[in-house]
Amino acid sequence: MIPDKAPKEDVFHGSGDRKKEAHIPSFDKYKELYLKSIENPDEFWGDIAKDFFWKTKHTGQFLDYNFDVTKGEIFVKCMEGASTNICYNVLDRNVHERKLGDKVAFYWEGNEPGDELTVTYRELLQRVCQFANVLKSQGVKKGDRVSIYMPMVVELVVAMLACVRIGAVHSIVFAGFSSQSLCERILDSQCSLLVTADGFYRGDKLINLKLLADEALQKCRDKGFPVHRCIMLKHLSREAEETPLVSQSPPAKRSCPGLQVPWNPEVDLCWHSLVRGASDECEPEWCESEDPLFILYTSGSTGKPKGVLHTVSGYMLYTATTFKLVFDYQPDDIYWCTADIGWITGHSYITYGPLANGATSVLFEGLPTYPDVSRMWEIVDKYHVTKFYTAPTAIRLLMKYGSEPVQKYKRESLKVLGTVGEPINPEAWQWYYTVVGEKRCPIVDTFWQTETGGHVLTPLPAATPMKPGSATFPFFGVVPAILNESGEELEGPSEGYLVFKQPWPGVMRTVYGNHQRFETIYFKKFPGYYVTGDGCRRDQDGYYWITGRIDDMLNVSGHLLSTAEVESALVEHEAIAEAAVVGRPHPVKGESLYCFVTLTDGMTFNCTLEAQLRKQVREKIGAIATPDYIQDAPGLPKTRSGKIMRRVLRKIACGERDLGDVSTLADSSVVEQLFQNRCCTAV
Ligand code: PRX
Repeated sequence: MIPDKAPKEDVFHGSGDRKKEAHIPSFDKYKELYLKSIENPDEFWGDIAKDFFWKTKHTGQFLDYNFDVTKGEIFVKCMEGASTNICYNVLDRNVHERKLGDKVAFYWEGNEPGDELTVTYRELLQRVCQFANVLKSQGVKKGDRVSIYMPMVVELVVAMLACVRIGAVHSIVFAGFSSQSLCERILDSQCSLLVTADGFYRGDKLINLKLLADEALQKCRDKGFPVHRCIMLKHLSREAEETPLVSQSPPAKRSCPGLQVPWNPEVDLCWHSLVRGASDECEPEWCESEDPLFILYTSGSTGKPKGVLHTVSGYMLYTATTFKLVFDYQPDDIYWCTADIGWITGHSYITYGPLANGATSVLFEGLPTYPDVSRMWEIVDKYHVTKFYTAPTAIRLLMKYGSEPVQKYKRESLKVLGTVGEPINPEAWQWYYTVVGEKRCPIVDTFWQTETGGHVLTPLPAATPMKPGSATFPFFGVVPAILNESGEELEGPSEGYLVFKQPWPGVMRTVYGNHQRFETIYFKKFPGYYVTGDGCRRDQDGYYWITGRIDDMLNVSGHLLSTAEVESALVEHEAIAEAAVVGRPHPVKGESLYCFVTLTDGMTFNCTLEAQLRKQVREKIGAIATPDYIQDAPGLPKTRSGKIMRRVLRKIACGERDLGDVSTLADSSVVEQLFQNRCCTAV
């Protein structure tokens, strides 16, 4: 499956000399270890597990599973019998055993240049213990769900690790999501407590987060689910005496015109007051390997987000190992992942993977374009970042401004560049490689999903020759296959459904509260395989190329959205009878949202309605789901059985007249009408 020898033609390597120090220094070494990871997973992962702390050791085989729905319930169990605590492994072990207490865990860089903090491993451990004690004092127990809705501040990491320390399950909701989305997630996972902040700035835009959190809690109350505790961090309104425990001063209190901090004394508690009296020692709760670790919601093709559940031991080992090998982590690295912790990339590769390795990371609150488009490179030079991980959408955005803003800074420290979230187009890859990395840095194009917990297809920087746009080969323990529509495995160069044949430690275990949905989405279509929902091509050299989603999901700026979720937000407007949403290629975002709406009788389509619909979707889901195009569609192309032909709508959205086979279309006249009404410019 993996070629015997790495190809020599049409591939890139990066000219930097990393072979001497690299963990995986050659393709041959990769291949040797890969075979070991597949043929003898117990030994492969068992060796890795030796570096971690186990309160009790596992008994039996390393991974036990069933991936075949026809043979009974789907399950994956890793290291049964073992007990541990991830917080202990990523903090106490580093401070006490590995003597990394004085090492910087995070350089926090605020939205505003000049706002910065430095947090060492020892300080992080103390702050996590204090907050863990706070959670306990508020009645949070092992297994309880805690919702976290916070900006990119150190306290977000503190809150998540404090949950983990006491065995509570965190459910982090990206702070760009609406109050409605937060409410749905709180209800689905039945969270007993919410941790949030007063507000934050995204560039020059103030987000009144507490206001949104309160709206969400009111919605929960209206639905009969009162959340009795809400802990609020004062991020923007912090007083001098509320200085957190860190090496450097926190940003001075600024005046934040427009900041509104509603306060409900029945429910609200102040982070700072609670922490002030809390002890900084807290015995970790020892958890079983398969105890739940966290829930993270991701879009589902039916419109209802899925609560992806990850468990303790497998996720810990997998994120730690992928971080170490994919970024070829070395102890003097300064690593920076620009994702938000509210997404899986931030969970796995800002918090768990880097901390498990004792790494020093940059934690960035701001935007790549604020206050100007050089901000990323300024930060790279400021902290001497060596490993840099971002999304293709950010690369494409910065590419628009040319190389000058990049070249204003030296970037000499950079050694490895990474991308994640969507296929990277070869043009953006070349720009990243040539302009940002000056042909010195290999690019690790990491393919993975919220569900996979960590990288599953990825190059290794010193081992894998790169092809621009290809995520190359499987990570250790991962066995991909490409299936045709009938579920047959295709050999050699081929294209079809990307599936995985066996589990790896970090794969999700269930959809929270709905195991049947988990089985249906990922295992029903092709029994015996985990189905990713992505299309994939394998070339003559065995390289994997992701071709995009093959279900009703869109990837906007590296974030998955379900068309059904946007459609249901649109039809909640009284003027809309029916809606169909498709993706239209976008030069920066990858895909943009093109919405066709059919009005209810007597309604007229105008700018006011368009603005109302955009606002409605933003309020229901969040700003990332704001429609780019909304088109009046008196009729939608349907089959005789009434199914909307999205393939045809995608062509109309792109202005492509070649519609392919439309013999099943019930009424072909609607198509012409839709072409005539096409929107050409996005808002
Ligand atoms: O379609 C694939 C795309 O993002 C999806 C997963 O989205 P999410 O769960 O939000 O996680 C994003 C961060 C891991 C995948 O099913 N995707 C992710 N990385 C890549 C990618 N597509 C192509 N190449 C990638 N490197």
